[in-house]
Amino acid sequence: MATIKEVAKIAGVSVGTVSNVITGSVTVGADRKERVLNAIREIEYHPNHVARSLKLQRTKMLGMIISDITNPFFSQMVRGAEEAARKQNYLLLTFNTDDRFEREEQALSELRSRRVDGILLVVAPSQAKPSHIVETLKAGIPVVCLDRIPPGLEVDSVTVDNINAARDCVRHLIAQGHRKIGIITGTMALQTAQQRLQGFEETMRAAGLEVDRDWVRHGDFRSESGYQMGREILLGKNLPTALFISNNLMAYGVLQALDDFNLHCPGDLAIATFDDPAITQVFRPRLTAISQPAYSFGYTGAELLIQRIESKKTGESPIAIRLPTELHIRESSAFEPRTLQ
Ligand code: RIB
Repeated sequence: MATIKEVAKIAGVSVGTVSNVITGSVTVGADRKERVLNAIREIEYHPNHVARSLKLQRTKMLGMIISDITNPFFSQMVRGAEEAARKQNYLLLTFNTDDRFEREEQALSELRSRRVDGILLVVAPSQAKPSHIVETLKAGIPVVCLDRIPPGLEVDSVTVDNINAARDCVRHLIAQGHRKIGIITGTMALQTAQQRLQGFEETMRAAGLEVDRDWVRHGDFRSESGYQMGREILLGKNLPTALFISNNLMAYGVLQALDDFNLHCPGDLAIATFDDPAITQVFRPRLTAISQPAYSFGYTGAELLIQRIESKKTGESPIAIRLPTELHIRESSAFEPRTLQ
């Protein structure tokens, strides 16, 4: 098996220089770096990272726990984290919880046993105390929570201002002329769902508008729940003219329910939602939506995590990074009530 000494000999450099090229920990001149990379390819040298981890007590691996990679929001988040990790020679190990608390606990345990250097965490809904996260932090493994923070946990985080973003969206619907406005929330055990409902209720109250409780439905951020809640609202006697839907996947479900009844958005029911992946531009009507920078969630979170790892400053007061959101106004939120009123 090829060794680092053979690489150094072929490249005409020291073993330390070969190590610096591999780890990226010290900048190496272009010419010498080129010679080292050519020598590595020539004799097919593969560094023994397991031995290196034991020596340095560091694996250069990050763990990332998300809800569901098939949701464009989370796949973009992973891409951002992976790019930031790659730039600093870290590998990323990703787990999906499917919003199941027991999966989150298992993933944290797996990642700890593989001695990852730090963890990016999108928590699953749960009423339980986050003791599994507290224990991880106490074990000296930095954790950065993305998107949602477990209540009462002092932890580094990257989030958006869900309350004000929801306020912007509902104010826009009111400015369009809508007065009868409902909401489909995400999983109410999650901070993002709670905050978007809070923004909705505060804005409706401030405008002196009544909210029919039949128009407040609780989904789970997946399209099927949007479809079911949309059907229930459309089968009701007193209908809203607009819905604020707490994420794009549930909004797609509501559009499907409208189609089942041969009804249309915005004429029969206007929609404004959260999350604005590029694919949404393909649909008609184009959806009025709050965009949140999913890629930056992951990239910024991984950078913060690596800073914590390399500064060894775990246990310091948490850093809270707030990313911007933006309201994109399109035809789905127009005020054109027709037959249903
Ligand atoms: O689509 C998943 C939703 O849950 C996103 O809006 C994100 O904010 C997460 O909380």
